[in-house]
Amino acid sequence: MPKKLFIKTYGCQMNVYDSGRMTDVLTPLGYQTTDSPDGADLVILNTCHIREKAAEKVYSELGRIKPLKARCQGEGGSMIVAVAGCVAQAEGEEIIRRAPVVDLVVGPQTYHRLPELIARAHRETGGVLDTDFPVESKFDHLPQPQAHGGVSAFLSVQEGCDKFCTFCVVPYTRGAEFSRPVDQIVAEAKRLVGDGVREITLLGQNVNAYHGAGPDGRDWGLARLIRNLAEIDGLARLRYTTSHPRDMDDDLIAAHGDVPQLMPYLHLPVQSGSDGILEAMNRRHSADEYRRLIEKIRLARPDLALSGDFIVGFPGETDADFAETLRLVNDVTYASAFSFKYSARPGTPAASAGAQVDDAVKVERLAALQQLLGAQQDAFNAATVGQTLPVLVERAGRKPGQMVGRSPYLQAVHLDGPDTLMGTLVDVTVTEALANSLTGVAAPPDALTAPVPLRESA
Ligand code: SAH
Ligand code: SF4
Ligand code: F3S
Repeated sequence: MPKKLFIKTYGCQMNVYDSGRMTDVLTPLGYQTTDSPDGADLVILNTCHIREKAAEKVYSELGRIKPLKARCQGEGGSMIVAVAGCVAQAEGEEIIRRAPVVDLVVGPQTYHRLPELIARAHRETGGVLDTDFPVESKFDHLPQPQAHGGVSAFLSVQEGCDKFCTFCVVPYTRGAEFSRPVDQIVAEAKRLVGDGVREITLLGQNVNAYHGAGPDGRDWGLARLIRNLAEIDGLARLRYTTSHPRDMDDDLIAAHGDVPQLMPYLHLPVQSGSDGILEAMNRRHSADEYRRLIEKIRLARPDLALSGDFIVGFPGETDADFAETLRLVNDVTYASAFSFKYSARPGTPAASAGAQVDDAVKVERLAALQQLLGAQQDAFNAATVGQTLPVLVERAGRKPGQMVGRSPYLQAVHLDGPDTLMGTLVDVTVTEALANSLTGVAAPPDALTAPVPLRESA
């Protein structure tokens, strides 16, 4: 009888990748994934600590799992409940104290040890804890990744962060910056492509700070890694996320102009448009430096679509500071973006700053910012109507005969066509832009629109 494994993933793409790798670790032990915690032998919550709301979600989920575990035990069975990810790292033992339903707490750098930790959790009472930052990387111990059946896959190349933005928990939950060696990454990418993957998104908390050991004994930067991966036969598209403006070097900018597999879409968070706030956040660049950087990248790749992250209501943020953020957004123009109310995180420097901003003010600023960003996103999507874009078909749509893929700019595109289109690049003429997706029809050969700066056509 296979054992049932339920994994719920919160937070960023790195957690999605990690959940896949946890499954790889547990498959040889006879675990098969299931989509409900009810009746599962092992429940893993792979958690996120970035904002208070994200962290609190875990405890409500544990509240729902408690009666399921009790019922399972009442029927003579056993259920192991594990908390993994960034809340596990940040709160450790505190989780077991607050939620005794938890048997096992495992941090992001030690989940390769899950088999022994689960065995211990079966033997011992009171909860098992492993939140080490071991010297040896988990990547040296993980089994080969298994095919998860998708056309698009994530691949972690870098982990951790040394930037210490004053609002952020990541340097504490993920540890110091670490880059995987080039050979290991290339082997994993080739394996994914062999399993049918056509698009790989390289992941790192600070991915453009990548500096992994190359086969020539030197450290390679992200651009060199990308150029090398682009040579893999059958790999149609490459993306990377998330980047820091400070680490956007000339070689990486040049790669956007001359590596055709590298998609013209870049997530480059700026957080704020005010120099004073940027300094208080320890972002280590000014708003104008960011503007100039964007100009330079768009010079290399004129049709580049930009995405970003913003925080409103950082301690000390005034109306004038916030107006600077709106001005920056107007100058830069985003195709999509994420924006958040500042959330004070325990242990981070900004959390104890005197001038915390009222929630009502945060709510107001967030609404204004989201209205502007939403309008920019709508304009960006509308500008693609009438264009013919290469779409990588990823899955079947909800309606029969419908398929869904992604444009180079990461927009979801619906089109009519057979299942056999899965994993292929189809030239699609966009006919309609909806709120969160585009609709299009397959175009005749050679109909592709030459890449145009969509920003200017908007
Ligand atoms: N490594 C990435 C982002 C990591 S977290 C980077 O450097 O950009 C993703 C986003 O969450 C951040 O870009 C930021 O906008 C937001 N975020 C992080 N900490 C936050 C906090 N304490 N409150 C609100 N938003 C936060
Ligand atoms: Fe957090 Fe800043 Fe590091 Fe991004 S660069 S993970 S926001 S500390
Ligand atoms: Fe969240 Fe950890 Fe990712 S805090 S955003 S899951 S790195």
